[in-house]
Amino acid sequence: MQNQTEQALREQKFFSDKVKAITHIYSHKPLAFVKTYGCQQNFSDSEKLRGMLSEMGYDITNKAENADVIFFNTCAIRENAESKVFGNVGALKHLKEKKPDLVIGLCGCMVQQEHAALEFKNKFPFIDIIFGTHVNHTLPELLFNKLFDNKKQFSIPAFDGGITEGLPVVRDSGFKASVSIMYGCNNFCTYCIVPYVRGRERSREANDILNEVRTLINDGYKEITLLGQNVNSYGKNTETDFPKLLSLLDNLEGEFKIEYMTSHPKDLNRDVINVISQSKNISRHLHLPVQSGSNRVLGLMNRGYTREDYIEKVEYAREKIPDISITTDIIVGFPGETYENFTETLELMREVVFDSAFTFVYSKRTGTKAAEMVDVVSGEVKSEWFKELLKVQSEIGDISYNRFVGKTLRVLCEGKGRTNKNFFTGRSNQGIIVDFPANEEFVGKFVDVNITEALSWALLGLIK
Ligand code: 5AD
Ligand code: SF4
Repeated sequence: MQNQTEQALREQKFFSDKVKAITHIYSHKPLAFVKTYGCQQNFSDSEKLRGMLSEMGYDITNKAENADVIFFNTCAIRENAESKVFGNVGALKHLKEKKPDLVIGLCGCMVQQEHAALEFKNKFPFIDIIFGTHVNHTLPELLFNKLFDNKKQFSIPAFDGGITEGLPVVRDSGFKASVSIMYGCNNFCTYCIVPYVRGRERSREANDILNEVRTLINDGYKEITLLGQNVNSYGKNTETDFPKLLSLLDNLEGEFKIEYMTSHPKDLNRDVINVISQSKNISRHLHLPVQSGSNRVLGLMNRGYTREDYIEKVEYAREKIPDISITTDIIVGFPGETYENFTETLELMREVVFDSAFTFVYSKRTGTKAAEMVDVVSGEVKSEWFKELLKVQSEIGDISYNRFVGKTLRVLCEGKGRTNKNFFTGRSNQGIIVDFPANEEFVGKFVDVNITEALSWALLGLIK
């Protein structure tokens, strides 16, 4: 386990104080805006960026037009994520023209790719700061250099940045929190850009995680989501592996639930399922991306398991944890995939019956192995396949949620719902959305809900 904490924190604090000395003399309280694209890891990183900005004397605003500094924390997972960032960055030009002192910065996965960083530099000369995923903790230094010297800052080192513990954090919610347990990925699935932009796998010390989660529970947080690209390989070959970590967390004092994502079917083992089945506080939700139901495509994707391995793991999980909810990710139109291969994915969906599936059309990512593979199926055909996939999943969703009708589920109430203005919404211990009549007093609390009806995307019920 790599920890670069002490020196990094000393520098972060040093430059933070220097920026504070500058922001202190502004005639107004300076405001910072951070926009996040992409996955939960990025949202978690943004909470730390806000933490550092707040320590530097900025108030956090959710209005870009009022801000003195704007940061976009970008995502590179698919082309549409990147196009969105390009569009939104372009739209900042008029803000900069109105307010020349405005500082505009980009960070995250997209700019960790050299070609994208260069494109931003060339297309949008009004950008002041660009930094990669390994050096988020240097934000105060970069901002100080920009404010003090008025020089553009570019920092995109390629090394796998280790781990910096103890950065300040401003959390988005008062009762839901995410905690990274590891960073990076070693799997190199052939379609995926993550290993290139997040570096090699590195796990945090178990004690650091336990202390953070304990503090969150004591501060009233009810749902804690453990984050990692492949949580099953947390602490691999050390005393505290993922099952051990889960069991240590489960035994903490207090009222809370632990979610975790993402599990990789290659590394998910029976020990994890056994620990969850015996636990009090670990969510009965397994997000297990299958990506494809065809062994040929799984091989091309370098996923390291077969359709049969996957089904065997799902069956074991359901045998040990009968009320478990299983969700997945699926990619349609991988290079070389045939219609026949695609129908194997549809068959797998019918066989497994997922509670929900995040479905994506394959997107070519420069630098990955799949980007070099021959891809003959047209975009139109892929979108036809995609529609077919959505149809099958929506039929399955209707069937699968019915099993909860008549049952009582423990739900963390999160806020106002979408179905009806008197309805509030939350997620059950299975991670399923449940809507029920309630009022503001229930927000942030666990409630037992009798399930009365299943929709394809949520359950409806009444508080017991
Ligand atoms: N194209 C389409 N989907 C992708 N994903 C990752 N990379 C790509 C890509 N190049 C999907 C996978 C993964 C989820 C987070 O995003 O399904 O599990
Ligand atoms: Fe990407 Fe595969 Fe790593 Fe997931 S496990 S982040 S899909 S390379």
